[in-house]
Amino acid sequence: MKSYSMQKVRSLRGEISVPGDKSISHRSIMLGSIANGVTRVTGFLRGEDALATLGAFRAMGVQIDDDGSNVTIHGKGLRGLVEPTDVLDCGNSGTSMRLLSGLLAGQNFFSVLTGDQYLRNRPMKRVVAPLTKMGGRILGRAGGEKAPLAIVGSRLTGIHYDSPVSSAQVKSAIMLAGLYADGETVVREPHLSRDHSERMLRHFGATVETFDGGVKVCGGTELSARDIAVPGDISSAAFFLVAALIVPHADLLIRGVGVNPTRTGIIDILQAMGGRVTLENLREESGEPVADLHVLGSCMKGVEISGELVPRAIDEFPVICVAAAMAEGKTVVRGAEELRVKETDRIAAMATNLRQAGVEVIEHPDGMEIVGRGALSGCTVDSFGDHRIAMSMLIAGLVASGETTVNDVDCIATSFPGFFDLLQGVISR
Ligand code: S3P
Repeated sequence: MKSYSMQKVRSLRGEISVPGDKSISHRSIMLGSIANGVTRVTGFLRGEDALATLGAFRAMGVQIDDDGSNVTIHGKGLRGLVEPTDVLDCGNSGTSMRLLSGLLAGQNFFSVLTGDQYLRNRPMKRVVAPLTKMGGRILGRAGGEKAPLAIVGSRLTGIHYDSPVSSAQVKSAIMLAGLYADGETVVREPHLSRDHSERMLRHFGATVETFDGGVKVCGGTELSARDIAVPGDISSAAFFLVAALIVPHADLLIRGVGVNPTRTGIIDILQAMGGRVTLENLREESGEPVADLHVLGSCMKGVEISGELVPRAIDEFPVICVAAAMAEGKTVVRGAEELRVKETDRIAAMATNLRQAGVEVIEHPDGMEIVGRGALSGCTVDSFGDHRIAMSMLIAGLVASGETTVNDVDCIATSFPGFFDLLQGVISR
């Protein structure tokens, strides 16, 4: 397990592109595989998570070619997948495991999903329970709460489900099962979570109705292959956004970033903090809005974050904590209990790490308070095996006094191949 040490930098400038969106990359493989025809994907994220999904569909008989630039999926149609001869390993990827659970529940074969030590500890009842209501037969450890999950493909019936959590993984798992179910499937959620599944299903010709607070799909709809251009991942851009805001006199342009409104909570939060972030050259690609993000070093202040902003920035909280620590005044995060069941408990992990860097942090069951003082001390911290904790603390290291060492940075490969080179390329010492 590698560690990495970051020195305080003088400034940060340049023009970059970040790797493709993780959520959209997963969905391109899933929908491309069950569509009729050939789907060509450009900008596919070759991180471990999305590659786990790709491997799972190859194991179910789908021909997927990767020439290093395009990924080409030879779709098998809604009923064309075949029983895998071994367990499907989702690695660290919650999206692979939860979305696959939904898609596999309605097949006519048996399958088993497993993952790494972190994924096998994450809650799965949130998908197992509604899928069981649809007629799915799924067994897992701890009464179906934990993976490995064994799925006996079954005939499904559509349901109307009020999800207790605002989770795109839960919503998407049920929608994917809904494609195989008799009748209509409706999912409602407390606040709108990312809607990439809805958008991509429409892009593939499915009838998906969205209404205030929910979504409806009809079973039996065949999908037609369509090419997909995956935009840059705003969750990866987030590390560079915060880096450029907290480093004095920084000036950075991040080209081609997905700015779907269900994902832009990070921009709204950083702007509310006084961060100078502007969207340029706004356009649409494959049903998703895309823009270039221009960001300048800024003086920031603490803010309060809760409600609908939480799912719109759910993956960005570790790096938002770093921005909050470098701001003046207190930042309060509430209604974010979901952070406790991510790749690690991100509230506890960031509280521990920021305290090491000299920051006062108060933990709540559903959030935290960070007392910003515009400075960080160099320290040695752990990634807790979580890519976003690792990258956030390396961004903190750009402004902390002396040296910041992050232990176990291998996990960064799950979502952001090339992170170190991209970051080193914009640093001025
Ligand atoms: C994702 C949904 C979110 C997010 C994850 C990717 C997706 O998880 O944290 O990184 O692609 O659907 P939840 O649905 O659990 O909030």
